[in-house]
Amino acid sequence: SPSDPDLVERARAAKAKLGDKVFVLGHHYQRDEVIQFADVTGDSFKLARDAAARPEAEYIVFCGVHFMAESADILTSDDQKVVLPDLAAGCSMADMATAEQVAECWDVLTEAGVAEQVVPVSYMNSSADIKAFTGKHGGTICTSSNAKKALEWAFEQGEKVLFLPDQHLGRNTAVRDMGMTLEDCVVYNPHKPNGGLTAEQLRDAKMILWRGHCSVHGRFSLESVEDVRARIPGVNVLVHPECKHEVVAAADYVGSTEYIIKALEAAPPGSKWAIGTELNLVRRLANRFAPEGKEIVFLDKTVCFCSTMNRIDLPHLVWALESLAEGNLVNRIQVDKETEAFAKLALERMLALP
Ligand code: 13P
Ligand code: SF4
Repeated sequence: SPSDPDLVERARAAKAKLGDKVFVLGHHYQRDEVIQFADVTGDSFKLARDAAARPEAEYIVFCGVHFMAESADILTSDDQKVVLPDLAAGCSMADMATAEQVAECWDVLTEAGVAEQVVPVSYMNSSADIKAFTGKHGGTICTSSNAKKALEWAFEQGEKVLFLPDQHLGRNTAVRDMGMTLEDCVVYNPHKPNGGLTAEQLRDAKMILWRGHCSVHGRFSLESVEDVRARIPGVNVLVHPECKHEVVAAADYVGSTEYIIKALEAAPPGSKWAIGTELNLVRRLANRFAPEGKEIVFLDKTVCFCSTMNRIDLPHLVWALESLAEGNLVNRIQVDKETEAFAKLALERMLALP
């Protein structure tokens, strides 16, 4: 839907008034009405790297979800303030691993006698607490664009990886990129005693996958891949690695949001694509590439927005920008000092990956 012209004008005016004092970051899953005001757009890796790109900006308005804003706060200086336009913009996957559950899991691994061999690798989509746990235990953060490098690094440090919290990204990377088998992976269920695993299973496993998933990408099925191939002969199926293993195995290409965009930019005119990722991005790409004769469809019949990404809408952005322009710091995301120190260690290990 087209954005309200009055709100567009207000956002423009507030941004102009703030000038260099504000830096707006936008994740690819954001609405069109929001993304038009982003100074930088990107996938989670690019946004983590770019968050620190404007040290002179007093305010960083993060149009994305809570864990991204936390990471931006961790990676920027203390006098830079990170603002999330709607505090309800969380991530259901990140919520699937709490600090207490992960501490309990570490006890289970210790009890089974495997903790010393385990290196934690945590997906960016996790709370600052989980990132701090990761840093404290010698591990690294990864995103969907560097998960392979992160696992390669981790297996140089230890014999096993505890992968948090997305089982699908962990499994897909292990099997597709690292030559492991499905049997090398076990799933730790935080809602069961001992994660639902025996000490023997933990000793035999190479990858211990946390039982988390993305509710948006979890909706794509093998059937949706088969359907689209039947409907559109010659279609290229391109999916995000947060999709289930069977979907990823049936796809032609797999990658992060930034990878998806690059692949479509490089695609020849007349090519056909079915994309398995969030709908705001797929719609934007379909509109952008239609004039070049690239046919882009959504890999599903049902509408599939990320509801929390969508919480950031133009009214919230206008409110945040106007408040800042009037000198009111609203919706600041600030990670406490101790958590920040360990989480930063883990994030910096990721940024230092080759
Ligand atoms: P990327 O942008 O890193 O591909 O991640 C997708 C996602 O789910 C962010 O929440
Ligand atoms: Fe979280 Fe999935 Fe939304 Fe990404 S798309 S923010 S992983 S719920």
